[in-house]
Amino acid sequence: MQQITIFGGNRLQGSLEIETAKNAILPMIAGCLLTSAPVVLCKVPCITDVQNMFEILRRMGCVVQPDGDKVCIDTSNICQHEIPRELAQAIRSSIFMLGPLLARQKKATVVFPGGCDIGARPIDLHLSGLRDLQVEICEQHGYIYCNGERMKAGVVHLDYPSVGATENIMMAAVLLKGRTTIIHCAKEPEIVDLAKFINSMGGKIKGAGTDTITIDGVSKLHGTTYTPMPDRIVCGTYAIASAVTQGDVTLTNARPQDISALLTKLRYSGCQVKCKRDTISVQAPKRLRSVLNVETQPYPGFPTDLQAPFLAMQTISNGISVITENVFETRFKHVSELVRMGAKITVKNRTAIVQGVPSLYGAEVMAQDLRGGAALVLAGLTAHGTTTIKNAQYIDRGYERMEQKLALLGANISRQS
Ligand code: EPZ
Repeated sequence: MQQITIFGGNRLQGSLEIETAKNAILPMIAGCLLTSAPVVLCKVPCITDVQNMFEILRRMGCVVQPDGDKVCIDTSNICQHEIPRELAQAIRSSIFMLGPLLARQKKATVVFPGGCDIGARPIDLHLSGLRDLQVEICEQHGYIYCNGERMKAGVVHLDYPSVGATENIMMAAVLLKGRTTIIHCAKEPEIVDLAKFINSMGGKIKGAGTDTITIDGVSKLHGTTYTPMPDRIVCGTYAIASAVTQGDVTLTNARPQDISALLTKLRYSGCQVKCKRDTISVQAPKRLRSVLNVETQPYPGFPTDLQAPFLAMQTISNGISVITENVFETRFKHVSELVRMGAKITVKNRTAIVQGVPSLYGAEVMAQDLRGGAALVLAGLTAHGTTTIKNAQYIDRGYERMEQKLALLGANISRQS
C-alpha cells in the first residue's frame, strides 16, 4: 500500500508544467485500434490508468513501445476481439475499446465493467447507441457480446451527454460508410481532442465540442504522431493547491478556457487569477472567501472531477458553501476523511454543506478514489501538523508524481511504499 505524508503549512510558490490529459489519452489509446498503421503518442504521463490501457493492447497482441515520453503503438498484429477480463475490470476505460474493435473487426467482447467508488457507472447509453448503428448486442453471464457484421451509419440521440458513450459511438462510426450523427452528445474538451486525433489519422469528424457531432465514414485510417491536450483536472487541482496555501503558483502548458468554471470560483474566493494563452497564475489571499453555491454539470459547467478538490478548499474558506454533485451519485467518499481533519461538513443526498473553519489539523486518512485522494492531499497541504494519506495508489491513477511536483513548489511532502 502506498502512503503520502505531508507536514502542512508551507506556502506553494513557483512554476509547474501541466502533464497531458488522462481523459484524452485513454480513448486515444483505444482509438489506435482503428488503424493497422503505427501511431505515436507524445508526452504520455506516467500514470497507472494509461499503463493499464497499454497492457490491455499488449494482451490483445498489439506492440506498445515506450521511447522516453513518447509511446509507439502498433495494432497490426491484434489477435483477438475479447478484452482481457481482469484488466477490463481493473480499468473502466476499457469500455472505450468496444467502438474501435467493432469498427476494425466487426466483433467485440468485453466483461461488464461494473461500478466503482463514485457510482454505478452503467453503460446503457453506450450499448443503446451502438444498437442504433445496428450492432447486435447480447448481454450474458456478465459479458457483452457485440456483432457488427450488419453495422451501418445512422443517427444516435443520447438521453444524457455521456462522455464515454459519445467517444465510443464516435469511434464505432469512423470506418462506417455514410454519415453518422450523434445528437445531444458530450462537449468536453477531451471529445474535441479525440476528434482532432482521429482526423489527424484521416478521419472525417465534425462538430466536436458542440451538442451534435457528424462522422463521415472513410475506408481506412493512416498513422499519426499526436500530442494530447493538457490535463485540465490536474491543472485545476494544482490551481487549488496554490489557493489553499496562500500560494503564488504559475501553471504552464495550461488552457484557461478548459477550466473557466473553476477560475471564476477562484476569483470569487479572493484569488488573483492571471491567464495568458497557455499559462494560469494563481495568487491566493490570506483567507479565502467561501463560494456559496457550486453545482457540478457536464462541460462547460463546473467539472465533477474537480468537486472533491474544490470541496477541500471550501473547508478552510470563510463562510458557508453548498456543493451539489449532479453527475455521479456517490462522489462524497472524501467527506468523512476531511471531517477527521477538523472539517465541518454535512452531506444530504447529492449535496454537501461546508462550514469553513480557520484551519484543519493533520490526521491519518484513507484515499478511496482518485479525485477524493487528491482532495486529501490538498487538505494536508494546509492542515496544521502531519497528515498521512493511505491508499495513495488511487492518486497515481491520474496524477503523475504528484508529491514530487508539489515538493518542487515548496510542500513538505513525501511518499512511503
Ligand atoms: C468520463 O467518465 C471521465 N473518465 C470521468 O473522469 C468524468 O468524471 C466523466 O467523464 C464526466 O465528465 C474518462 O474520460 C476516462 P459519463 P464517463 O459517461 O465517460 C451516467 C476521473 O476522475 N451514464 O459522462 O464514465 C453515469 O453513471 C473520471 O478522471 C449512464 O447512466 O462519464 C454518470 O452518472 C471519473 N449511462 C453520468 O452518466 C451510460 O451509459 C456521466 O457519465 C454512461 C453514463
